[in-house]
Amino acid sequence: MINVLFVCLGNICRSPMAEAVFRHQLKEKHLEDRIAVDSAGTGDWHLGKPPHEGTRKLLDEYGISYSGMRARQVLIQDYQSFDYIICMDSNNERDVRQLFGSKSDNHAKVFKFMDLLPEQTSKDVPDPYYTGNFEEVYGLVSEGCARLIERIASEQSKLISE
Ligand code: 4NP
Repeated sequence: MINVLFVCLGNICRSPMAEAVFRHQLKEKHLEDRIAVDSAGTGDWHLGKPPHEGTRKLLDEYGISYSGMRARQVLIQDYQSFDYIICMDSNNERDVRQLFGSKSDNHAKVFKFMDLLPEQTSKDVPDPYYTGNFEEVYGLVSEGCARLIERIASEQSKLISE
C-alpha cells in the first residue's frame, strides 16, 4: 500500500477537499486498494470537525463523498507512516518540515501541492477560508490529484502493477 497525506492549516478546507477528490479518482481508476489517502492540519483549532461548509457544498455538487472525514492535526509519526506528504502552501511545508526535523529535507516525500502543477504561476493553493473561492481550489485540486496518480504510477510502477 502506498500512503498519501495532504496537509493544510486547519484540515477543514483544502486538504480534506484534496483527500476526498483523490480518493474519488482512485476509485474511478480501481486503485483504492493500492493507494490510501488521509489529510491533516498543522493547526489544532478544528480537531474532530467535519470539512468546512464550502468544501462540503462543492463536493456535494460534484458527487464526491466526504463521509466520516474529521479534522486531525499532523503528527510527528506521520513522517514514517506516509510515502507522500503533500503541503497545500509554503507555510504548511515550512511547519511540517519543522515538526519532522532535518530528515524531511527529502523532497521526494515532502513537497508542495503546486509542484504537481508547474505550469501554474501560483506556488500555493489559495486558502478559501479567507478567499471564499472554493471553486478555484477545486479546479487546482482535481488537476493536481490526477497528476499525482500519474506520478505515483510512474515512480511505483512495480507496486501498482503487482
Ligand atoms: P484550510 O483553511 O487550511 O484550507 O483548512 C483554514 C481553515 C481554518 C483556519 C485557517 C485556514 N483557521 O484559522 O481557523
